[in-house]
Amino acid sequence: MVNGAKRVLVFDSGVGGLSVFDAIAASGHAFDLDYAADNAWLPYGLKTDEQLRVRVPALLSRLVEHWAPDAVVVACNTASTIALEPVRAALSVPVVGVVPPIKPAAAQTRTGVIGLLATPATVQRAYTDDLIAQFASDKRVIRFGSAALVEAAERKLQGEKAQQSAITEAIDGLFSAPGGDQLDVVALACTHFPLLAAELAAAAPRPCLWMDSGEAIARRLVHVLIAQEGPSRVQRAAFTSADSARASLRAFKARGFSDFSHIVEAPNFQIAPFDDASSA
Ligand code: DGL
Repeated sequence: MVNGAKRVLVFDSGVGGLSVFDAIAASGHAFDLDYAADNAWLPYGLKTDEQLRVRVPALLSRLVEHWAPDAVVVACNTASTIALEPVRAALSVPVVGVVPPIKPAAAQTRTGVIGLLATPATVQRAYTDDLIAQFASDKRVIRFGSAALVEAAERKLQGEKAQQSAITEAIDGLFSAPGGDQLDVVALACTHFPLLAAELAAAAPRPCLWMDSGEAIARRLVHVLIAQEGPSRVQRAAFTSADSARASLRAFKARGFSDFSHIVEAPNFQIAPFDDASSA
């Protein structure tokens, strides 16, 4: 452990949390960074609220027991917008969630029309409605929910080409909607989507501002943990599906991960060896 470094567990359903991990790692603060993905349950955006409110706290409780982080980052909008309360109730360490970046998007728009790109679950959450009512009530908000974009981001980080159909569908959904000709800022309210920022920008009919929550989360974490300046260190990564994780290991290794584990669901989210970490 770097002297005084705080241990942080970054959690998502898949590789999306890496967009938040990257912002934390680039923050210039001394964190020891672990990552866990519930990729056996990907995509969270097609799960019910109740399923997530039960599973996410149960899984994170076990990971906190195993890895003893100083804080947990729920780097998933779909989980944060529905399960933060039960997660906080289940854990004894601070929990930082991702908030869809509606407030900064509303502050940046010049035309008064913003896009909200998220999972099908997040776009329709009461939490999202409340954010819009609070920070963007005088704006037009065009919402588009896509599970296909989550899959496209997963594919991209497996070294394949992201499916263009998913990108095109999302761009059409935003820019061809009523008011879409005025849209100038898009809030990326799924942590997978910043990983596709270049593809989305290339497919958009004109330049616009693409906003995500990564840096805001990193700043929040520094504040919550009173973190010291210094280099971050990359530590362990664990996955509920070792089979699916194998395809993405290159993206994790590129970020410095070398210690991989399998989270075995039954009977109670045990951490087990990852049998082939050299396959990527
Ligand atoms: N990365 C997650 C988010 O921010 C969700 C992806 C999924 O649907 O699993 O919403």
